[in-house]
Amino acid sequence: MTGVRNVRGGILLLCAGLGLGLLMSLYAFVPMIPKVPASLDGYDDLPRRLIRLAHIAAIMLPVINIALGGWLDRLALSARARETSSRLLLWGAAGVPLALLLEAVWPLARNLHVSAVPVLAFCGAVAAIAVGAWRMEIEAPGPSRRRRVSARGSQAEHEEESFFDLLHRGA
Ligand code: HEM
Repeated sequence: MTGVRNVRGGILLLCAGLGLGLLMSLYAFVPMIPKVPASLDGYDDLPRRLIRLAHIAAIMLPVINIALGGWLDRLALSARARETSSRLLLWGAAGVPLALLLEAVWPLARNLHVSAVPVLAFCGAVAAIAVGAWRMEIEAPGPSRRRRVSARGSQAEHEEESFFDLLHRGA
């Protein structure tokens, strides 16, 4: 089950995103550390904004992994495309916050836009997953309660289950 990697990885990365939020709390409002670095003093200072963006990315990109991970194995994608988009989705969720944190502390990394690489990897993965979702057919629930899948090799597996049976099964 390829998608399990994204659900498990997403949950672990989400903890890191909340942890970063806890660390930011040390300087963000009433500082709880003796000396706040000058680059983090002002709310609009670029390093502080990049750390804030890293925090938000480290929460929302894992949540997207968890949400899409449950569907990955049912999308109309080849095994290779499914495996690649699964890995890029997870690497992007880890890489974007890390690259933004690097840009926050290292001006050269900022000038080189190192965060662009994991951002493009993540967006590419979601685009591939969107193609798989587009090609996947789901019949609305009703008397037939059958789901037709256009992708090769997954017809037999889901023959008797309806869309909502699969959701409830939450594989
Ligand atoms: C419970 C754990 C969390 C902690 C301790 C935490 C901590 C913080 C802190 C300290 C800031 C301010 C940083 C600054 O002023 O530079 C912040 C900003 C932010 N956090 Fe969190 N956060 C948490 C959870 C979340 C969650 C679940 C989200 C959902 C996406 C989130 C989204 C944001 C956003 C959007 C901002 C920017 C707000 C703004 O522009 O001022 N945070 N967080």
